[in-house]
Amino acid sequence: AETEYMIDVFGHIKAMFETATASAFPLLANSPVALVLSTKPGAHYQNNSAMSLYSKSKDFPADQFPADSPMDAAMRLCEHLPSSDVVEKAEAVKGSTIAVIVSTKYLTRQMNLLFQLGARPPKVKEEVVVVDYSSPNIAKQMHVGHLRSTIIGDCISNLFEFIGHKVHRINHVGDWGTQFGMLIAHLKDEYPDFETNSPPIADLQAFYQGSKKRFDADEEFKTRAWNEVVLLQNGDPVVTKAWQLICAASRKEFDVIYNRLNIVGLREMGESFYQSMMVDVIKHFEERGLVTIEDGRKLVFLEGKEVPITIEKSNGSYTYDTSDLACLKYRLDTLKADSVIYVVDAGQSLHFELVWGAARKAEIYDETKNRIEHVAFGLVLGEDKKKLKTRSGDTIKLSELLDEAVELSSKVVDDKQATLEDDAKLTAQEREDAINAIAYGAVKYADLKSNRTADYVFSFDRMLDFRGNTAVYLLYAYTRIMSIARKAGVSEADMAADTTPIVLEHPKEIKLALHLLRFPEIIEQFVAELNPHVVCGYMFQASQYFTEFYENCRCTEVVDRKVVSYNMSRIKLTRAVAVVLAKCFDILGMKYVQRM
Ligand code: ARG
Repeated sequence: AETEYMIDVFGHIKAMFETATASAFPLLANSPVALVLSTKPGAHYQNNSAMSLYSKSKDFPADQFPADSPMDAAMRLCEHLPSSDVVEKAEAVKGSTIAVIVSTKYLTRQMNLLFQLGARPPKVKEEVVVVDYSSPNIAKQMHVGHLRSTIIGDCISNLFEFIGHKVHRINHVGDWGTQFGMLIAHLKDEYPDFETNSPPIADLQAFYQGSKKRFDADEEFKTRAWNEVVLLQNGDPVVTKAWQLICAASRKEFDVIYNRLNIVGLREMGESFYQSMMVDVIKHFEERGLVTIEDGRKLVFLEGKEVPITIEKSNGSYTYDTSDLACLKYRLDTLKADSVIYVVDAGQSLHFELVWGAARKAEIYDETKNRIEHVAFGLVLGEDKKKLKTRSGDTIKLSELLDEAVELSSKVVDDKQATLEDDAKLTAQEREDAINAIAYGAVKYADLKSNRTADYVFSFDRMLDFRGNTAVYLLYAYTRIMSIARKAGVSEADMAADTTPIVLEHPKEIKLALHLLRFPEIIEQFVAELNPHVVCGYMFQASQYFTEFYENCRCTEVVDRKVVSYNMSRIKLTRAVAVVLAKCFDILGMKYVQRM
């Protein structure tokens, strides 16, 4: 049903102007419509395209272009605007812009639907989407770059699921490669009975470093390590077992982080998964005559690129590029993905460019049919703008970083509690939930709200600040909004049973409502740009418009700290704000609480 989706008011008005443009100026039918939020009071949106339409008219004979000034062009657009119950009035004003006023009646109806049905997605065609994120490397430390990928990837997956796509959340772990030779050789020495007794590798990091030290210093060990690689590639059962044990030990460490961050549904399909497909990928390139052999290596050259990609080394082994080619082919052919999204640090841009270039050349992928995108992100830096370190100067361990977030959040919550009357204090469970919501929320939100392509400066002080666009601010805003109905003694059921509609009269009510109804537009923008910060900005703005509304429009009448009467329409409006914020928290992968 139509009510399953939310109408994108902005998109709707834009489409109306597209129709108007085509009918008023057939020769410029496909000119873009410059619709933006209005900068002038009284109007909601404005269309700024009349000027450019007029300036393009110079290309046409006068009798074929009906407008004789920018203002005239604006007026003609208004005349040709199809009738709609969305727009109350569209009028050409000074400067040849068109001021658009959205119908209050329409807004009111949409707000009531929002209150009744919740925040729903815009209507889009269902697709299959692969999101490749997190992707740490076995036996190595999961670092802040992987944390960033995990947070952003989870959020993008939530977004696609919300709009109704089938999402494969894939953890492309680095679980294959020559480094396993030394790890396996080391395992055999350290835990000779590993086949029967699972080795208690407590510190994988130290284990990795131990094997690396021997590999670099000991020629005999090095030779053994290379032998293990060959055995692993040939599927030797004992070596495979050793490899599995090492992977399992790593996985256990990763899972601790995933559990803490509430990362669910992420499926591991690492580099090893594609090993058996490599031969066919090489064949695929060879059959199309795309392979150049140089010093025993198999290369693929791409137009306009200096460096070729190596798909097979002279010793017959494959590369990171080969595995990503096999992987892309698998995702498109077997998983039937319409879109494949790689959430990986910006340092790998060239790698992806080359792999996709080769894939296009070999007709593995057709860019007119599939959306393949690198959701690149910048580095995570410390406050000194250098690589992130702990307070004692060591390289940061993710679990320690999260411990610190929890510790600082406890202080935030407890400081606040100390100022409250006894009857307002949290239970032990509520306190714990609040601390976790703030701690993990702060880490996630700080990352998501910054433009992902830029480097990101990690600062606990900033992320736990109540002022400004932070998780703490928004989480508190949410509890404050939720407390309005609670303090008025209006329950969820009361609200649902009550037939009073939301009415929008005060300009601050209308401003707030217009913003809430931008929700589907924000979702569409997020889908197009895959940059979560649009959602964060939207939430922050919503809580600010809420504050303006709350300061100007009385929701409840309070005498002696007791609510004596309330305005049901406005109580419902506050609930609609909370519903939209909650949906945004869900998409960002953040938990929120009712009280804190
Ligand atoms: N494991 C890689 C790293 O830590 C990231 C893998 C990204 N995904 C991919 N399909 N290449 O750098």
